[in-house]
Amino acid sequence: MKNRKLLLENVHIPGIETFDVYRKNGGYRSVEKALNTMTPDEVVEEVKKSGLRGRGGAGFPTGMKWSFLAKPEGVPRYLVCNADESEPGTFKDRYLMEKIPHLLIEGMITSSYALGANTSYIYIRGEFMYILHILEKAIAEAYDKGFLGKNILGKGYDLDLFVVPGGGAYICGEETALLESLEGKRGNPRIKPPFPAVKGLWGCPTVVNNVESLAAVVPIVNDGGDSYAAIGIGRSTGTKLISACGNLVKPGVYEIEMGLSVEEFIYGDDYCKGIANNKKLKACVPGGSSVPILPHYLVTKTASGEDRLMSYESLADGGFVSGSMLGSGGFIVFDEDQCIVRNTWNFTRFYAHESCGQCSPCREGTGWMEKVLHRLENGHGNIRDIDLLAEINKKIEGNTICPLGDAAAWPVAAAIRHFRDEFEWHVTNKDEAITRNYGLSKEPLIA
Ligand SMILES: Cc1cc2nc3c(=O)[nH]c(=O)nc-3n(C[C@H](O)[C@H](O)[C@H](O)COP(=O)(O)O)c2cc1C
Repeated sequence: MKNRKLLLENVHIPGIETFDVYRKNGGYRSVEKALNTMTPDEVVEEVKKSGLRGRGGAGFPTGMKWSFLAKPEGVPRYLVCNADESEPGTFKDRYLMEKIPHLLIEGMITSSYALGANTSYIYIRGEFMYILHILEKAIAEAYDKGFLGKNILGKGYDLDLFVVPGGGAYICGEETALLESLEGKRGNPRIKPPFPAVKGLWGCPTVVNNVESLAAVVPIVNDGGDSYAAIGIGRSTGTKLISACGNLVKPGVYEIEMGLSVEEFIYGDDYCKGIANNKKLKACVPGGSSVPILPHYLVTKTASGEDRLMSYESLADGGFVSGSMLGSGGFIVFDEDQCIVRNTWNFTRFYAHESCGQCSPCREGTGWMEKVLHRLENGHGNIRDIDLLAEINKKIEGNTICPLGDAAAWPVAAAIRHFRDEFEWHVTNKDEAITRNYGLSKEPLIA
C-alpha cells in the first residue's frame, strides 16, 4: 500500500506554521480555486463526492451534513470547528493545529464559503492555550494577506474567524454542549431534534465539524472529490490521522491511507514498529477510550479470519460481539503486563468525572460503575459485582440525551465480554490484587 499523505505531507518543513512558508508550499490554493472558479454548491458537491466522513468520531458523511444546513432568508449561518479533543488516547487534532495551523484555517475559509457562513469559530480545548496563541497568530496573518475579513480575494465574500477557549470539560466536545458553551452557558448537551443544522449557535443554522474533517476539505477541493474518493477502501475514503499510544515502540501521530492493515500499522517499520520491550500484544482500543476493546486475537484478524483493516467497516466487523470502531482514531495498545480491570476502572473514572449530570442513568450509573470497578481492582469485590457492572451498563446505554453514556458503557461491556477471567481473578486472588497494585501497604493508592 502506498503511503500517501494529504494533510501532514508538509508538516516537517521548517517554518510551515507561518503564512509565507505555508503559502510557498501550495497553501491557500483551495480558497483561490473555490472563490475564483466554484459556486458554494459546487464545493459542497465535491465534498459529497469525496465520501469524506466526519473525523470527530461518529463518521457521519460530511457532504451530507452540509447539505442538511437550513438556509432561511436573512438568517446568519455558522461554521464551528470542534477542536475540543479531550477523548483519552486521541491527540491528532492538537498535532495538526500546532504544526500546521494554516491548514485548518484554509479548510475553514473554503468550508465557510461553501456553507455561506460569514462568521466562524474554532472552539478549542481550554488546556490547549498555547495552540490558541498559535492559531491566533496564523489567523492574524491570514487577515493581513486578505484571506480573511472583508471582500476576500476581491470576490465580495466576507468572513471573520474567531478562536474561543473551551470550558474545560470533555462534555463540551459534544456538539450541542459545545454550542451552549460557545454561547457562554454551562456546557450541557441539548435535546435533539432540532439538530444544529436547523437550530444551532444563537438559534441559527450551524455546522459543527472536527478539525481533521475541515482540514481534509483542502485536498478535496484542490484535487477534486473523485481523487480523494479513489484513496482508501469502500466507504472509508481518503486518509486518516491516527494517534497511537500505549506499549508501542514508536507511538505518535500517523497519517494513514484508509485500508492499511492493522498488522502493518502496529508492526510495520513505517508506523509503530511493534510492541515495546519485546512484549506480546494483549489488547487494543482502536478508536479512543469510548470504543470497545479488542483482545489480541481480534486485533489483526476479524472473527471470520480476514485481515483487520484501518477502516470504519473493518474495525466494526463483528459488531459489538467481536468488533470495535475507528472512532476518533485514538489507537491505544496494551502489552501482556497490562491489567484490563485497572484500565477499565481508569477509563470509567474519567467518564464518571466528566458526566455533566443532566441524565440520571449517566450521572448515577457512571459513578456506580466507577465504585464497583474500584473495589474489584483493589481486591474488595465479589463475583456478583461483575454481573452488577453488566446490569448497570445496560441501564445507561441508549438512555441518555447525548452519547457520553454510551461512551462510558461500551468499554466496560467489552472488557467484561473479552476479559471476564481477569475480573474473576481479582475476586479469587484478592490479596494478590491488592499487593500487586499497592505494594505491601493495603491502602488504596487512589481513594
Ligand atoms: C462526550 C462527547 C465528546 C466529544 N468530543 C469531541 C471532540 O473533542 N472533537 C470532535 O470533533 N468531536 C467530538 N464529539 C463528537 C461531536 O459531537 C460531533 O459529532 C463532531 O464534532 C462532528 O464533527 P465531524 O462530523 O466532523 O466528525 C464528541 C461527542 C461526545 C458525545
